Amino acid sequence: MHEFTFKNNEFYCENIKVSDIAKKVPTPFYLYSYKTLIDHYKKIKSAFSSIKPLICFSVKSNSSLAVLRALVKNGAGLDIVSGGELYKAKIAGVDPKKVVYAGVGKKRDEIESAIKFGILFFDAESEEELGQIEKAAAKLKKKVNVAIRINPDIIPKTHKYIATGKGESKFGLDFETVHKIFNSRWKYPSLNICGVQMHIGSQILDAAPFTEAIKKVLEFLKEYKIDVEYFNIGGGLGIVYSIENPQTAKSFAKSILPLLKRSGLKIILEPGRFVSGNSGILVTKVLYTKRTPRKTFVIVDSGMSDLIRPSLYEAYHKIVPVSVPRDSSATAEKVDVVGPICESGDFLGKDRYLPYMRPGSLVAVMGAGAYGFTMSSNYNSRPRGSEVMVIRNKFYVVRKGETYKDLVRGETIPKVLK
Ligand code: LLP
Repeated sequence: MHEFTFKNNEFYCENIKVSDIAKKVPTPFYLYSYKTLIDHYKKIKSAFSSIKPLICFSVKSNSSLAVLRALVKNGAGLDIVSGGELYKAKIAGVDPKKVVYAGVGKKRDEIESAIKFGILFFDAESEEELGQIEKAAAKLKKKVNVAIRINPDIIPKTHKYIATGKGESKFGLDFETVHKIFNSRWKYPSLNICGVQMHIGSQILDAAPFTEAIKKVLEFLKEYKIDVEYFNIGGGLGIVYSIENPQTAKSFAKSILPLLKRSGLKIILEPGRFVSGNSGILVTKVLYTKRTPRKTFVIVDSGMSDLIRPSLYEAYHKIVPVSVPRDSSATAEKVDVVGPICESGDFLGKDRYLPYMRPGSLVAVMGAGAYGFTMSSNYNSRPRGSEVMVIRNKFYVVRKGETYKDLVRGETIPKVLK
């Protein structure tokens, strides 16, 4: 459930009309509902309350400082994957002991900054990376916690670009290598190799791949008598974009809690999309309707540079008119909703049934709170729009829209070209 609803043909975010926000904020803009965000965080928290896990929100899904601060204030930790995310996490005021750091390509300076900040642990993804963390820890004279990311080699049942738990994926390490690492912990005197981690993929709708992977990891630890303190089971819980019927936080917990409890390990979860996905929408304006002999296109003022998921994964995002047009007699027409970008792959939705919308009408692209703004770009030299958050009956611009000046920030034309 989320807080974007129609009341008398008008679309609201919590108690505020989206069209009223659009009177003050130019389109396109991302709009987040604080209540939806926190409700989803609490859903996971309460589903797993019997084992009191550390819930580290996955910053890559939505790294708006307001989103991070809102979650941190409500007790969340953060899952980060770069020096940039670490920087944002610090500004959001996160407790360092609630930060975990994953990713296959951590750079030395990023590792050192995270050690200095005092994060809970790194999720290490290769032996060479372990060597690098060891060197950084020795230099800084710190004992550093590390969990080893395991690739459990299962079929995560999701889009191939967001499946990570298969053997051929670049993520994590195979059981044999992990075993070897645990047998040679002495090689890393500055590290405390105290956990294992997995993240099998994203937008996973049922519990089976999770239970399979968790069982494999726990059996592995048991078989080789590997003693660890933490088990980080990653993120990946799917949400409703269209007709999916995903597991709820409760049913997910029901399936995996017995396994986790039996393990006696401290559990960490890294949900991203489940918390942020349905907490945000992209609000955009209709520019033109263009009829061709084969198709009708509704051209809007945002596209793949703002929300790349449809172009990249053929992901489905529901598209709704913000004010239902009164003069349309609601006859819906099959249209492609496309952006202004010069790419055929620039679309937000294909073959959608929408009523005619005059130029200037507002449209909302649903489920855009995760991997929306964070994956946006300036392609076609388009400044990115604002991010706005509704918090208790008020809306706040939490990130100003970019200007043309922002597009050239940091650029110089060498004198020889002048
Ligand atoms: N932990 C790790 C180590 C991850 O790599 C990810 C996501 C998460 C947690 C959070 O996963 P979530 O709960 O959000 O599924 N851009 C794609 C999704 C890529 C996910 C990358 N890793 C999309 O738009 O669907």
